[in-house]
Amino acid sequence: PLVDEWSGRHEKEQVLRNLLSLQEVHIVPGNSDESVQTQTLLASEAARFIFSKLESRMITAVTGGSTIAKIAEQLPSSSKFQQLQFVAARGGIGKDVQLQANTIASMFAQKLNGSYKTLYIPDTLSESAYEAMKAEPFVQEMMDLYEQMSILVHGIGDATEMARRRNSTAEDLKFLKERQAVSEAFGYYFNAKGEVVHRIRTIGVQLEQLEQTPYIVAVAGGAQKAQALQSYFQQAPRQSVLITDEGAADQLIHH
Ligand code: G3H
Repeated sequence: PLVDEWSGRHEKEQVLRNLLSLQEVHIVPGNSDESVQTQTLLASEAARFIFSKLESRMITAVTGGSTIAKIAEQLPSSSKFQQLQFVAARGGIGKDVQLQANTIASMFAQKLNGSYKTLYIPDTLSESAYEAMKAEPFVQEMMDLYEQMSILVHGIGDATEMARRRNSTAEDLKFLKERQAVSEAFGYYFNAKGEVVHRIRTIGVQLEQLEQTPYIVAVAGGAQKAQALQSYFQQAPRQSVLITDEGAADQLIHH
């Protein structure tokens, strides 16, 4: 039965690869919505993948969220690589420090004996503050690091759920609804066709920078995220590697 289970999941990985036009998909057993054990499996699969791609002096950017935070926990403590750099892919989000990209970048650095750069900037800036920030040397420095990143590790969320977490105003929520936003990743909101319909005004990784990023590791599980995954991968960078669970995979395959 173990072999059957494995080959079944292996087949689903292939189906999902075709469905989402990706080259690499990893599915762990279970549904993250219902099982903490699956959340841990998802995180350890992602940690294993990231560790296998690391090389000394690489720059890795990480986003926030509970999924990516768990990956940091699952990484081995290792000094195998020299001069690794970890950067927050964007400013803060919501109120929970533990789930912020900054905190997670520092956790990755601690585990892997690297250094980290943080970005303590509100998640949403006014137009004028945004323009002023962009001219700041420390922001320029972050932008240069994003240009050179070898790995981006990011979560994918349901648009409404993410807007709620960001304490978005009723007006913002209405806007996202009108634009039919379905998914969110690194501050961008996407509709069912995978088109960008909104973007949080903050300092962070730009969608254009992903084109030249060798490894993009998208980690998201749970049946409830199936729609968001469907939306995001319509136009996501083709070198993305999806690490998900059976809960999301089954929902995607059968709908
Ligand atoms: O961008 C999406 C979020 O990072 C997803 O957050 O992992 O807590 O569901 P989550």
